[in-house]
Amino acid sequence: MPVVVAANTKGGSGKSTSSLILGTTLAKMGASVRILDADPQRTLLSWASGKSKYSDIVISPKPGLDLSDLIDEISSQFQFVIIDVQGSANQELAAAMSRADLVTIPMRAKTADAEVAANAIGLLNSQQKLFRRAIPHGVVFIATNPVITTKEEKHIRESVKQLKIPCFQTSLHERTAYSHMFRFKVAIDELSSRETNGLEAALENADNYANEVIATLRQAREEGSAA
Ligand SMILES: Nc1ncnc2c1ncn2[C@@H]1O[C@H](COP(=O)(O)OP(=O)(O)O)[C@@H](O)[C@H]1O
Ligand SMILES: [Mg+2]
Repeated sequence: MPVVVAANTKGGSGKSTSSLILGTTLAKMGASVRILDADPQRTLLSWASGKSKYSDIVISPKPGLDLSDLIDEISSQFQFVIIDVQGSANQELAAAMSRADLVTIPMRAKTADAEVAANAIGLLNSQQKLFRRAIPHGVVFIATNPVITTKEEKHIRESVKQLKIPCFQTSLHERTAYSHMFRFKVAIDELSSRETNGLEAALENADNYANEVIATLRQAREEGSAA
């Protein structure tokens, strides 16, 4: 069953946020999901200490158990495995990428962030060579302005396109709901519109992202089996 890895060497690029949005949205849609929190900061494990009905979907690596073995074990049991991994050149990242059906590269649409995201793509390319297989991947823009596309965002999108790096059509816009998930330790569909502005738009944005991930996985599988 598909393994989706969020990778970027830069902290604060939206790995944990996008992994949690994806995992809880797929679970809301009725899928069986596990999110593996492989980042030593354990942002998602700490989120799971709250009262969300989705808390059980977050798990952390078991000490002494090889990460790729763990990924194999959970991917044989669940429809989706999402891995939030610290994005530096470490063994966990290599193990996660070796099992990935899709690598998402979350990043903010800021010039400095785009430069760092190039590292993540470099790592991905070396993994592709190492494993002699193409790893489907795509940049997902995070915390973008929901109302207007800024000049900076347009410019960065254009550079990503010129570098022939695939990019998700759906951006995860800057939304209070996405930071409130962490503040209240619940999923977006468990937030209240009394406390959180723009909740409906955040839910719709999350659904669009999850649907695009599903479509991308399906397309990659079809292309893989055609090759
Ligand atoms: N789309 C978004 N809307 C609002 N806040 C966001 C969004 N994406 C990320 N954030 C905030 O940015 C910060 C960093 O995001 P995080 O997902 O923890 O990054 P990473 O896991 O890559 O270090 C967090 O405080 C998170 O709440
Ligand atoms: Mg994180």
